[in-house]
Amino acid sequence: MQQNKASAPFSAYHLREERLDAVPEYAQVGPGTPGGEYLRRFWHPIEVSAELGDIPKRIRILGEDLVLFRAKSGELGLVRPHCPHRGASLEFGIPDEKGIRCCYHGWLIGVDGTVLETPAEPETKNLRHGAYPVREFEGLIFAYMGPPEQMPPLPVFDVIANRKPTDRLYPGGWTPGGKYEWPCNWVQVKENAMDPVHTAYLHTIASGSQFTPEFGILPELEYRETPIGMVYVAGRRIGGNMWIRMHDLIMPNIHLVASVNETGKQEKRYGGPYLLHWATPIDDTSFRELGWLIETDDMKFTDEIVQQLHFGMMDDRPMEERQRTPGDYDAQVSQGAVHLRAREHLGTSDRGVAMFRRMLRVGIDDVRKGKDPKGLHRDEGQVIRTYTQNAVVACPASNDPAEEKRQFSELSQRVFDGEFRD
Ligand code: FES
Ligand SMILES: [Fe+2]
Repeated sequence: MQQNKASAPFSAYHLREERLDAVPEYAQVGPGTPGGEYLRRFWHPIEVSAELGDIPKRIRILGEDLVLFRAKSGELGLVRPHCPHRGASLEFGIPDEKGIRCCYHGWLIGVDGTVLETPAEPETKNLRHGAYPVREFEGLIFAYMGPPEQMPPLPVFDVIANRKPTDRLYPGGWTPGGKYEWPCNWVQVKENAMDPVHTAYLHTIASGSQFTPEFGILPELEYRETPIGMVYVAGRRIGGNMWIRMHDLIMPNIHLVASVNETGKQEKRYGGPYLLHWATPIDDTSFRELGWLIETDDMKFTDEIVQQLHFGMMDDRPMEERQRTPGDYDAQVSQGAVHLRAREHLGTSDRGVAMFRRMLRVGIDDVRKGKDPKGLHRDEGQVIRTYTQNAVVACPASNDPAEEKRQFSELSQRVFDGEFRD
């Protein structure tokens, strides 16, 4: 009976939401949670190198409060905030040659957490303070917060390692120099990365053309598993060409985006990514978007492009303007601090979202069983192959939708196989 009432028109009274408050395991990030343990098997960027000066910085990552600092030797340290003596925050500590010295009574903590000096004591206390390993690479600071004996090497991706000498990297957020922290769970922004329909709808039809008008064509879609995660492949018919746009999601929280300048009008073998980004969870209800922007011949960061890239990515516009021309921030943050999945109704175009969630669940399960999850690399020095690209291929249009679909599938396979990479 309840069901009938709830499916009748004007049924908000019957469609109560009180049973929708469960946060799925894969959205949890805190220490000791299944999702948090899984995320702790990977390196995550936590800050832009240039933003860490000569004083320590308090940061919150994966639900843990920590202090990041640079020792005078140049080495980086990431430690628990409360001094092991009597708990003063090391945020007020003084970076020393080998570590950080607490401001209160001068205890010196090394970058690996060893207590090196306890000045007012007759002898140095044999103590260990909580510290995490930190690495610096191409302008970003990365942390590994998992079991030390299981620490993998820092991942190196082909689009960064093999970039052209003329390409330029900008470490940071969605725009050069921009900082982006969103008040919602990190999974939402990665689900969005596997949802190419929103590119057509939100970014073109709903809010006017943010990129090129061709993005407004609703694409044919395929989703494929890769050794490191998954891709979506979006195919659009542009006159006598088929424009194939393929994007990676690298498990668990990395995504790549190909140039948004593409119109599909000119044949093109390869247009590579302009962005490789992690969503680094701050806690269950916020994350920071960090990674590299890659300036290539295909995608120059002109003032105009930077404006387009920033549009709708923060809440820095008047509310009425955001309502009339919403952007990614508005759509994804408004899903809720943690999107309640019990509220949603997935459709066939959400196959990518469902596939990503399945992969998260499998990854969590693998960690539970003591296995390495997908996306983790053990080979030091391995350059990891990614898939993201635009390709525009001449391909005569057909009036038969089945033939169009067949052509798309064939091209999707060829692009996926790397035929247009050189
Ligand atoms: S509280 Fe840090 S040295 Fe005493
Ligand atoms: Fe978007």
